[in-house]
Amino acid sequence: MNAGPTYEPIDPVRFIGNHSSGKMGVAIADAFADLGADVDLVLGPSHEKPLNHGIKIHEVQTASEMYQKCMGIFPSAKISVLSAAVADFTPSHKARSKIKKEDGLQSIELEATKDILLSLGESKKENQFLVGFALETDNERKNAIKKLKAKNLDMIVLNSLKDDGAGFGHSTNKISIIDNKENSLEFPLKDKSQVAVDIVQSIMNLLDKK
Ligand code: CTP
Repeated sequence: MNAGPTYEPIDPVRFIGNHSSGKMGVAIADAFADLGADVDLVLGPSHEKPLNHGIKIHEVQTASEMYQKCMGIFPSAKISVLSAAVADFTPSHKARSKIKKEDGLQSIELEATKDILLSLGESKKENQFLVGFALETDNERKNAIKKLKAKNLDMIVLNSLKDDGAGFGHSTNKISIIDNKENSLEFPLKDKSQVAVDIVQSIMNLLDKK
């Protein structure tokens, strides 16, 4: 499991981040642990913490740290759910000292981070179940299916930023679930803890059929 944003440092005091709270992923970790699963949660900088004390939390800051941790844990995981909002780009150079205003900063050179989900999909074994998230604003279903195929997923959870009460910062979410046969299930707006139960239940149903 992973959850939360990543912070990509510019200098010791500044970073590039995003609006992810980690709430959805932490709720999924709790829902699995409540069923008795052994859960490893790779968690980016987030104020959210799981309620279940059995969950092993691996705290990370950057996309690169999250990649390393997830790659280390993945081979022994039966089910992996990647809900983190991993930065797609990181500054090419991190200044060692604080950049002073009077020195000026015209632009920040960025380089692409590694796609964690894609890397896991490439090394996935037959007995492993891999779930990704898609956060879309346009052509939602088409883009989600494209990600599901490109990243070799068994299931993808689609959040549309167009839905009121869904996505970043809300305690509620509205999702669709699409499996690798392109069957989809649409859910109404619910509290994230309830959405987490729906996601876990869908994974269990699909695992039974696998
Ligand atoms: N993801 C990842 N590593 C990245 C970027 C994304 O593991 N460097 C994962 C996310 O955790 C999520 C899925 O990929 O499960 C889709 O993320 P999303 O931001 O919707 O899509 P991207 O693949 O980054 O593509 P785009 O931003 O162009 O929509």
